[in-house]
Amino acid sequence: MARKKIIAGNWKMNMTPSEAVELVNTLKPLVATEDADVVFCVPAIDIIPAMEAAKGSNIHIGAENMYYEESGAYTGEISPKMLTDVGVKYVIIGHSERREYFAETDETVNKKVLKAFEHGITPIVCCGESLTQREQGITIDWIRQQIKIAFLNVTAAQAASSVIAYEPIWAIGTGKVATTEQAQEVCKAIRDCIAEIYDDATAAAIRIQYGGSVSASSASELFSQPDIDGGLVGGAALKPDFGKIVNYK
Ligand code: G3P
Repeated sequence: MARKKIIAGNWKMNMTPSEAVELVNTLKPLVATEDADVVFCVPAIDIIPAMEAAKGSNIHIGAENMYYEESGAYTGEISPKMLTDVGVKYVIIGHSERREYFAETDETVNKKVLKAFEHGITPIVCCGESLTQREQGITIDWIRQQIKIAFLNVTAAQAASSVIAYEPIWAIGTGKVATTEQAQEVCKAIRDCIAEIYDDATAAAIRIQYGGSVSASSASELFSQPDIDGGLVGGAALKPDFGKIVNYK
């Protein structure tokens, strides 16, 4: 069965709640499609107003992060229950910015992935290499390790329903998009790794996105690759251009 594309925006630390409402209202008609799942992952404080604004549209509002405990003395964190209580179905886990600035590790990523599944939230699990790692020729080994740890104790059924975002760190926010060949090569390696951990059916079902300076002009070629099932988009998700990315065909 063909995989449905999933095209998600990662707003990062941008947009106040009122700006969020405005942006959802602007993008709503531009991202209307049945060909792809459309997700806006927004700052925690924007989730409720963005959901209100997105009502009746095809836009799913997701979170950019969550903690792996249920509740308690974790000042500043947001729990999976808080997300599901308002209807959140997607959460980005292990973005490279979380790993770099907030000390997230493959192990914490795994805990969060398991917790998301426990609550019926689909994780968008991020992985990606640095420029040094690419130059050293260890990209695939590095990504395989990230994936193997992120999916420890995750069942095949859970893995099949999840989303992986391949985001080369050197391509994020730099305007330096990976070549189609580079992106396809790594996304295929990720799918092969999932087949090794689980089986071919799980590998065939899991959706793998590319992220890193995706734009209206690069989306079509990237998303047409056999192992690329859409994108995780930063900067361009904050502009009307996101409509062109969603309707990339
Ligand atoms: O998660 C999306 C991301 O990190 C890519 O950001 O701005 O390069 O599209 P950007």
